[in-house]
Amino acid sequence: MKRIKVNTSTPTEIIIGNNINIKEEIDESRKALLLIDSNVFNTYGKAVMNNLNACIYLINPKESSKSMSSVINILNFMAFNGLTRKDIVITMGGGITTDLGGFVSSIYNRGMRVYHIPTTLLADVDAAIGGKTGVNTGYGKNIVGTFHHPTKVLIDVKYLQTLNEKQIRCGKAEILKYAFIDNLKLLNLINSDNWEEIITQSIMTKIKFIESDEYDNGKRMILNFGHTIGHAIEKQSNYKINHGEAVAIGMATMGRYFGINEIEHEIKKTGLKVTYNGEPKKLMNYILNDKKREDNFYNIIVPESFGKCRIYKTNEKEIFEIIKRVKK
Ligand SMILES: NC(=O)c1ccc[n+]([C@@H]2O[C@H](COP(=O)([O-])OP(=O)(O)OC[C@H]3O[C@@H](n4cnc5c(N)ncnc54)[C@H](O)[C@@H]3O)[C@@H](O)[C@H]2O)c1
Repeated sequence: MKRIKVNTSTPTEIIIGNNINIKEEIDESRKALLLIDSNVFNTYGKAVMNNLNACIYLINPKESSKSMSSVINILNFMAFNGLTRKDIVITMGGGITTDLGGFVSSIYNRGMRVYHIPTTLLADVDAAIGGKTGVNTGYGKNIVGTFHHPTKVLIDVKYLQTLNEKQIRCGKAEILKYAFIDNLKLLNLINSDNWEEIITQSIMTKIKFIESDEYDNGKRMILNFGHTIGHAIEKQSNYKINHGEAVAIGMATMGRYFGINEIEHEIKKTGLKVTYNGEPKKLMNYILNDKKREDNFYNIIVPESFGKCRIYKTNEKEIFEIIKRVKK
């Protein structure tokens, strides 16, 4: 079992292992709310409930659950159950659950502790790490959110066994991102089954960016490689294309436009798609609302060489030229 500390304003302890003892890792002296993905509950709920004394709220694992109406329902449920700011929230599920649970725990009673138990590869390597929370509105993905660092993240590789191929591929998209921005070593590992090492390497890469820029004002933005286009594709496809798949297309598009062909090549090897047959003008409308916009220019993350990315300021005209390459 590995323990990694993230040195942010409120530190996080990340535990990576197989068969982690939840009871030993979570503060049992306080009342707990378990926000759990309904599919995860069906498979693992019984075992978890034997180890936890918590009231339960089921999350429907759909992107539409990351909404302000879900937030209000959960906040009301917490108040109804008498939770105070000293109590804890535990999330268990994929990125939808950790994003939503992270958000409610950051605003209920002005903020309380949250423990994440991610159960998808994508949440293990990305969504549960780094303290970003997010809720969508009609204008786009993660338009509302906070920075709220989890107290602990318990990453248990046993949950990966029940993921289907598509869910594994989605996680691999974010692992490839770490390879393309800073850690090409991951390319040798990605198709192995050494999950603990893959997750550790991915997280160590993410932490490097977070610790040097906790609030996303500079270097941390590089972690968004592929995401500006990816979020627009998710939204335009009405979330039929999910996060990991869309990010992979976003990264491949960047690789094509900036002439780093290895990116598309490596993505294809994992079975992820590299193009999207959407209308570029519509994608552009979503990008106009992206958080990376600053007045009249955009910060986008571009590949500088294979294994290195940088922040690049550009304008609407060039973004549109890049977007056209989504189709090939
Ligand atoms: N906050 C961040 O830093 C951050 C980073 C990356 C992504 N995200 C967000 O994460 C979300 C995507 O996360 P995701 O891909 O984990 O999606 P998800 O939460 O929808 O989970 C995907 C599917 O896997 C199922 N599932 C979960 N665990 C399982 C298990 N162990 N076995 C079988 N099935 C299981 C779920 O029920 C769901 O159907 C997006 O909303 C994205 O915006 C956030």
